[in-house]
Amino acid sequence: MPEYAFDNAAAETEQRFGALEVLYDPVTIRHLAPVVKPGSRCLEVGGGSGSVAKWMSDRVGAQGRVLVTDINTRFLDGIAAGNVEVRQHDIANDPIEEGVFDVAHTRLVLIHVPERERAVEKMISALKPGGWLVLQEFESLSMRADPEHFLSEHLLKTYVASQAVLTRRGADLRFGRKLPPLLRSLGLKNVDAEAHARHFQGGTVFSRLMRANFEQVRGDMIAAGDVTEEEIEADLARLDDPALSWPTMVLWTVCAQKP
Ligand SMILES: C[S@@+](CC[C@H](N)C(=O)[O-])C[C@H]1O[C@@H](n2cnc3c(N)ncnc32)[C@H](O)[C@@H]1O
Repeated sequence: MPEYAFDNAAAETEQRFGALEVLYDPVTIRHLAPVVKPGSRCLEVGGGSGSVAKWMSDRVGAQGRVLVTDINTRFLDGIAAGNVEVRQHDIANDPIEEGVFDVAHTRLVLIHVPERERAVEKMISALKPGGWLVLQEFESLSMRADPEHFLSEHLLKTYVASQAVLTRRGADLRFGRKLPPLLRSLGLKNVDAEAHARHFQGGTVFSRLMRANFEQVRGDMIAAGDVTEEEIEADLARLDDPALSWPTMVLWTVCAQKP
C-alpha cells in the first residue's frame, strides 16, 4: 500500500498547515458559506489543522454538528467546541454514517488517497438527499512554471522531483480537474467547478508551503536519484529569493448536490 507522503507526524506539518490556511481558507469559506447554515450537519474529511472545522463549528452553532476526520488527528484533538466530533478515520477504508450530513467537504486529501473514487462515493453516501458535496483538489501539472514561454518563471528541479515522489506514493496530481465529470457520472446534480491559482514571488507564503513539502520528501527524492542534496539546498535557498517567480498549483473547487 503506498503511504501518504506528508504524514502529519512530521515536523514540517505545522508549517504546511499554516501556509494552507493562509492560501486557501478564504477560498474554502467563500464556497462553503452558501451551503453551511446554522443547524447544518457537516462532514470535514482529512481536516488537517482543523481551521475549516472550526469555521464550520462557529457557523452551524449549537443546533448544528461537525464531524471532522483524519488518519492522524494530532492537530484536531485540541478543538474545544461542543458541536464538534473529532474522529481518527480513513475515508477510503473505514465505515461512515450514511444519509446524515447536509454538507461534506474535503480539501487536498483525495489527490493523496489511492482509492480516491471510493472515497468520493463514501462522501456522497454520507450526505442526505439534497446535501452538498464540496471537493477542493489540486491539478498540479497543467500550469507548472514554464520558463521556456514565460521568461520570469522558474521551475525548480526539486519541485519536479517532489511531484515524482507524490506520484510514486499513489497521488494523482491531476485529480482536481477530473472531478466535474466524475461527479456527473455518479449522478450528482448542479455540478459547478471553479479553478483558483495565484502567481507568487520567492519569500512569500507559497514558498513556505514548498519548503515544508521539499523537506518532508527530501530522503525519497535523493533515494530516487531525481535530485542531489546540493541541488535541494540550492533550491531551498532560492525559495526566499524575491527573483523567484512561479504560479501555484490549480485548486479546483467542485460543488455538487445529491439528488
Ligand atoms: C495536505 S493535508 C490537507 C489538510 C487540510 N484538509 C487542509 O487543506 O489544510 C492532507 C490531510 O489529509 C489527511 N489524510 C490523508 N489520507 C487520508 C485518508 N485516507 N482519510 C482521511 N484523511 C486522510 C492527512 O493526514 C492530512 O491531514
